[in-house]
Amino acid sequence: MRFDIVTVLPELLESPLNYSIMQRAKDKGLLEVFLHHLRDYAPGKHRQVDDYQFGGGAGMVMKPEPIAACIDKLCAERAYDEVIYTSPDGVLLDQSLCNRLSMKNNILILCGHYKGVDERIRQKYITLEISIGDYVLSGGELAAAVLVDSVGRLIPGVLNDETSALFDSFQDNLLAPPVYTRPAEWEGMPVPDVLRSGHEAMIEAWRHEQSMERTQERRPDLWQRYLKSE
Ligand code: ADE
Repeated sequence: MRFDIVTVLPELLESPLNYSIMQRAKDKGLLEVFLHHLRDYAPGKHRQVDDYQFGGGAGMVMKPEPIAACIDKLCAERAYDEVIYTSPDGVLLDQSLCNRLSMKNNILILCGHYKGVDERIRQKYITLEISIGDYVLSGGELAAAVLVDSVGRLIPGVLNDETSALFDSFQDNLLAPPVYTRPAEWEGMPVPDVLRSGHEAMIEAWRHEQSMERTQERRPDLWQRYLKSE
């Protein structure tokens, strides 16, 4: 799977995708991430990528021409399954959207900045707008990193049995159960006996019970979805 990310701040994206599971996915040849610096597509000495907004108001808007030049070049080289714009106005990213995107081959992500991009870019190129939560980031880069990480780890072969996404929180609309490691007792707090019993069916039942309890307590919205999906 290939991601092309168009950004005014490639530096912000370099580090988060170079460690752990993302690096392993790239090493295995399952994930490719290419960063495209928008300023390289802006003409003139100043390589200006933003401008004042029509109608007045604080904050700059990303100019359409450099974005169009960059996206046109990329689209001439390959067909994209989705052209995504990261923005607080988008659909909220959740596990089912991650699952759906992990089945694609080529995804282009445009990172928003300043007050956002000129509306005409959204009309002409963007097939999907994604928000990572109801709060405002100073740019779309961190949202793009979240997107690549959450989708990239679902590509078949990226995770091994131990880290399998099948047992992640949200995969079945339930939160994950609590986990423990050694020592068996720490600061007077023992690990639940059942986890040390070696009885697989009982452990499975205990984990499911804990998942249901946690979801009911902490995420009543998710719990309603779980009940409907059962
Ligand atoms: N850009 C700014 N805030 C954002 C958010 N919450 N999600 C995605 N992109 C953003």
